[in-house]
Amino acid sequence: MYAIVLGAAAGGGFPQWNSNAPGCNRARSGDPAAPARTQASLAVSGNGKDWYLLNASPDLREQLNATPELHPKTGLRSTPIRGVILTGGDVDAIAGLLTLREREPFTIHATARILGILDANPVFEVLARDCVERRPLTLGTPVELAGGLTLELFAVPGKVPLYMEQGSGMQPLVADETTVAAMLTDGTRRLFYIPGCAAMTDDLLARIEGADVLLFDGTLWADDEMVRAGVGAKTGQRMGHMSMSGPQGAIATLAGATIGQRCFIHINNTNPVLLADSPERAQAEQAGWTICHDGMRITL
Ligand code: MLT
Ligand code: MN
Repeated sequence: MYAIVLGAAAGGGFPQWNSNAPGCNRARSGDPAAPARTQASLAVSGNGKDWYLLNASPDLREQLNATPELHPKTGLRSTPIRGVILTGGDVDAIAGLLTLREREPFTIHATARILGILDANPVFEVLARDCVERRPLTLGTPVELAGGLTLELFAVPGKVPLYMEQGSGMQPLVADETTVAAMLTDGTRRLFYIPGCAAMTDDLLARIEGADVLLFDGTLWADDEMVRAGVGAKTGQRMGHMSMSGPQGAIATLAGATIGQRCFIHINNTNPVLLADSPERAQAEQAGWTICHDGMRITL
């Protein structure tokens, strides 16, 4: 089974277009310790020929151009991309679908809730329905994909997409079809893609136990990081993202789990782990975590 990190950053990317913060300016200036990252997406394949995208980020066109495995291989028009699997409805997960217009057949796999969001937005009709199938998946029910992979979605704590929030306060956390984890297996190895997760639960811990590869929500280092950096009022909890550090964070709550390779993805532009020379990067790596970068390849 093969995986390629197409993008490792959270919504907005790194650098984010309107950020004049030191980290983003280091990325803009080409500092080798602060390499730019596009918005989170992963490509997976069971056979190296048939590929699936985990989310379609607004940077998808650039990501595809940078990834030879995903270039057309036959005829004048074709793609090795068999489908797109959606783990949520945020802009950074769905906007790249618009890049995939041009009447090329593939399948969108998502929960009925997320497909409902696409159905309600007529702009997605550019993916003609006689060409691009929208296949609803039931949580906890595995489905077979091309190339020998099986996919299962399950709920993780999260909130509605940013543009569907009601009011400006804390949004209710739900564990339903809104924010999901994707588990992919070739029958032997298991990979989990979880770019958004608001809290660790016993159910999630039990599912992840024994994973070969985990790609997990690395949005923030600390819950109040954006507030302290002076770039916004929102905490990680408010955004539906648990942080890396702290007693309730991913590093601590997953410390006892058996996982082959644990990686952070969907990393916000304010997160100091993006800087190779930061103490937080050293701390995360010392705890056994890999900080994903664009183009990173994993064979499992
Ligand atoms: C998130 O992960 O919180 C969203 O991508 C936010 C956004 O759409 O900017
Ligand atoms: Mn996001």
